[in-house]
Amino acid sequence: MLKRKDLLGLKDLAAEEIEEILARAAEMRKLLEKNVRKTEHLQGKSVVTLFYENSTRTRTSFEAAAKITGATTASISAQSSSVTKGETLIDTGRNLDALLTDVIIIRHSMSGAPHLLAKNVKASVINAGDGMNEHPTQALLDIFTMKNAFNSIKGLKVVIAGDIKYSRVARSNIWGLNKLGAEVTVVAPKTLLPQDIESMGCTVSCNIDKAIEGANVIMGLRIQLERQQSGLFPSVAEYHKYFGINDSRLSLADSNALVMHPGPVNRRVEMTSGVIDGDNSVILEQVTNGVAVRMAVLDILAGNRR
Ligand code: CP
Repeated sequence: MLKRKDLLGLKDLAAEEIEEILARAAEMRKLLEKNVRKTEHLQGKSVVTLFYENSTRTRTSFEAAAKITGATTASISAQSSSVTKGETLIDTGRNLDALLTDVIIIRHSMSGAPHLLAKNVKASVINAGDGMNEHPTQALLDIFTMKNAFNSIKGLKVVIAGDIKYSRVARSNIWGLNKLGAEVTVVAPKTLLPQDIESMGCTVSCNIDKAIEGANVIMGLRIQLERQQSGLFPSVAEYHKYFGINDSRLSLADSNALVMHPGPVNRRVEMTSGVIDGDNSVILEQVTNGVAVRMAVLDILAGNRR
């Protein structure tokens, strides 16, 4: 049973805890499919999103999940908060405690910021992405989407291609998928692979054609264009030529392979538009599943507080 105050990453979760979240998310997804848009799971609870970095999907998804489950919500961004006046993260958190907040959802550019906050507040803290470290609810919704398609994660061949070095999505997926028995291969130019990546229990490749052969899941990750300026690869056109996922590369995978991407996607860089919008793509389904997964996480953490 997941008996935690906070959700900070998948590295520390047991397989059973991940399965518990996925099972709860399946219940939430059924409610959404029945057009239920208001439940009482979090009635009387207060949820605050505290985003120090931009977001389209994660923030909107958490806000939708909190509202559907009956919580009251408030939204703080770095630009509109008293951080601009010099307030520390811990002081911000203590003030949110004083405002009777039950759950703080934080995104921060510094790895470990959610962990620091969690140690210093009474509220439950959910990591919505910290630096290059983890993005646990993204990986949970990715794994949930895979499980919906294949029933089980065990033995699935999952290829993650793109900016592995700077990706919190890659790290959370590797931790989570390995715990559930998938075979994960990461593929990228050498300069976009972190040195210690094999120690996380995945296969490493610089050849996307070989990596994709027979894959059940191909997950593209955003090429962070700011990296190009720092000389880690010559050009996005060159990246696309050697690592981009196109119809010809996709044909090397299993015919039922899922094409996934956490977004935001750079069309014609990580993938062609034909692949992004093609029959194998579940990119928008991932986004919908994100609401169900976040409803589940909020429900479990709020339940632990009762
Ligand atoms: N996948 C993801 O984290 O997207 P956002 O940056 O839009 O939240």
